Amino acid sequence: MTDPMDAQALIDTAIDAAKKAYAPYSDYAVGAALLAPDGTVFTGCNVESAAYPATICGERTALVKAVSEGQREFSTIAVATKNGGSPCGMCRQMLFEFAPDLRVICCDFEGNVTIDDSLRNMLLHGFGPSDLPKPD
Ligand code: THU
Repeated sequence: MTDPMDAQALIDTAIDAAKKAYAPYSDYAVGAALLAPDGTVFTGCNVESAAYPATICGERTALVKAVSEGQREFSTIAVATKNGGSPCGMCRQMLFEFAPDLRVICCDFEGNVTIDDSLRNMLLHGFGPSDLPKPD
């Protein structure tokens, strides 16, 4: 994913994934495309609930799809929203569990990139698996 064309393909996939968003309450569609080292891409969108806190974000949808299919390593995530918004703290934390050095690309629906940074920078001093003491 150092090739800018590959990044562009992932961005396009995230924009497409946002079309599946179920966001009747916020009207804020989020699409995510999560890339594994072998080139597999897992997509996700936000799925809202009338019981608002039960909502799941697009990034975590993609992550949970991937992990439930046996994929635990990731190199890049592209996230598309109408204004190129940033992933929430809960999504950063969940992604950090598996891929602290993930490249995070945020863009709007026209493909304009608003953020291109590492997850480690975006979740400074993040708490991860190695912070938990091993059980005796
Ligand atoms: N949302 C995401 O899908 N990802 C984020 O990182 C931020 C927020 C969703 C949740 C909700 O459906 C809508 O955006 C507005 O908060």
